[in-house]
Amino acid sequence: MQPNSNRFYHNYFSVMSVTSFNLSELIRPNIRNLKPYRSARDDFSEGILLDANENSLGSVVDSEKELNRYPDPLHNELRQKWADYRGVQQDNIFLGVGSDEPIDLLIRMTCRPGRDNIMITPPTYGMYKVAADVNDVAVKEVQLDSEFQPLPEQILNQVDENTRLLFLCSPNNPTGNLLDPDKVYPILKRFNGLVIIDEAYIDFSESPGWSSEIQSYPNLVVLQTLSKAFGLAGIRIGAALSSPELIGYMLRMKAPYNVNKLTASVALKAFDQPEKLRKMITQLNSERKRLENELQSLKQVKRVRPSDANFLLVHFTDALGTYQKLAENGVIVRYRGDQPGCDQALRITVGTPGENDRLISELKSIME
Ligand SMILES: Cc1ncc(COP(=O)(O)O)c(C=O)c1O
Repeated sequence: MQPNSNRFYHNYFSVMSVTSFNLSELIRPNIRNLKPYRSARDDFSEGILLDANENSLGSVVDSEKELNRYPDPLHNELRQKWADYRGVQQDNIFLGVGSDEPIDLLIRMTCRPGRDNIMITPPTYGMYKVAADVNDVAVKEVQLDSEFQPLPEQILNQVDENTRLLFLCSPNNPTGNLLDPDKVYPILKRFNGLVIIDEAYIDFSESPGWSSEIQSYPNLVVLQTLSKAFGLAGIRIGAALSSPELIGYMLRMKAPYNVNKLTASVALKAFDQPEKLRKMITQLNSERKRLENELQSLKQVKRVRPSDANFLLVHFTDALGTYQKLAENGVIVRYRGDQPGCDQALRITVGTPGENDRLISELKSIME
């Protein structure tokens, strides 16, 4: 995202432009009327706890975390930290098991199986379609343009009255680029469903992302995760950021104890390490630049796409052959040549300096 000269302009008109948006009309009636499960820990978390059929003696595994007890259903301390980090309020934050959980919840919250549809913009992250397929929700597609930017007019022409959600991804996976705000704002302003902007890789970019825009656009949902820049893919935590009303629906739908105690305690610590985070991002981004330059000098590389994430989309003369030879030599990358606009392309995650050296030397030896 470029530093945004247009942002004020967009904000100024946004309220006017989205007044017709009515969230409750978008929510499936069964969800709107849902009486959520009330868990034991919603009522009391202290005292002689004989209310949740936990093991009163403790756990077979020693831990200070009282693992015999169910976790806090809300994790408000963590929600507050996430909110402070992104400059929003606690009630703007839904915590999920990775960002994959909110993707599924948003579909189930709004799309009637067999009737409604979502819109995606390939090439993009595969889970939007998988989650839609699992829920028997049709998927409309408008491909990104040759620079992997969305086409607002085509998208707005293709949506119909049953299109509940539009998934955008910025920086986009597998292409690596940030979406141009000037291509996103027209959609945000005119699409009457939810615009979900997946920011799994936002911390690798210079862009502040879209978090601050949830105040202006009630139809905006931003997805984030600690799996990427924070280096915590193993603990499975992500978030959806949106209006308190929308977050309220998600909280009512979720499994009562979706985020476990071990995950929450590690995630809390993550936000106390800004220096470490900054250092890792700086190192990965400088390795990305080095890798980009080295790859570009190789004969079998046709084009390296610019990236704002911790991976590169690279077009080869023979992507599948290169992929297979790399794998035979123990270097595993992702084949993406079957995605629109990704002809002969591999997606390569930025590794450690040593891993990147190895990748380059394997590629050089393949050439010989
Ligand atoms: C664009 C995008 N969104 C979401 C995810 C899922 O992330 P999480 O680990 O938070 O479920 C990924 C994982 O690769 C991703 O690339």
